[in-house]
Amino acid sequence: MSYTWVDYYKNRGTKPRSELREALPYITTGTNALDLGCGAFVESRYMLEKGFSVVAVDPEISLSLYLDDITNDNFTFECVPVQNFDFPKNEFDFVCANYSLPFVTKRKHRFIFDSIYESLRPGGIFAFQLFGKYDQRNVWWRNSLCFHSEDEIMELISKFELVDFDEAQHFTKLAGGKQNFSHVYRVIVKK
Ligand SMILES: C[S@@+](CC[C@H](N)C(=O)[O-])C[C@H]1O[C@@H](n2cnc3c(N)ncnc32)[C@H](O)[C@@H]1O
Repeated sequence: MSYTWVDYYKNRGTKPRSELREALPYITTGTNALDLGCGAFVESRYMLEKGFSVVAVDPEISLSLYLDDITNDNFTFECVPVQNFDFPKNEFDFVCANYSLPFVTKRKHRFIFDSIYESLRPGGIFAFQLFGKYDQRNVWWRNSLCFHSEDEIMELISKFELVDFDEAQHFTKLAGGKQNFSHVYRVIVKK
């Protein structure tokens, strides 16, 4: 039996990611947020609690199960892949893509980064993670995930101002319980 997103959402827990908590203090322009590849709305809920308006995007149909108790009027969910999302221009103060861009076809990344840039207000923040080439998932799941070099990431963010760039390599347990050598770039940039 293969591990599905439904299993992942169940195992993910309810604690917002440190990557989100680290990015929030850099946001100074307003409270409009876009959560790309939002999963089970853990980070979206946290941002709503902090007073943000949130647009959440993810193509996974099973996520409707997690929507019932989100009654905040400042929340919208669009069940589409990020490459099909109609990015509004000059709209967001914060865009996050927490561990979702590695699941998007690499050839769409240029278009997605340009669209994010256009959708941010001047001074807006974008926080994301991408997997590096040495990540063990590059052996197991090389056809369904994408992996980047530092140079490739620098090229993708060339229009932005770099705020924080962290490269980490260590053993971790994945949400499915599998031991993995992880190679992850954690990046925060500003328009
Ligand atoms: C590892 S999960 C991360 C979910 C959440 N951001 C978190 O940190 O827990 C990756 C998410 O990316 C979503 N995803 C996969 N392909 C996508 C795409 N083309 N556009 C947007 N999201 C996508 C999956 O449905 C899944 O919810």
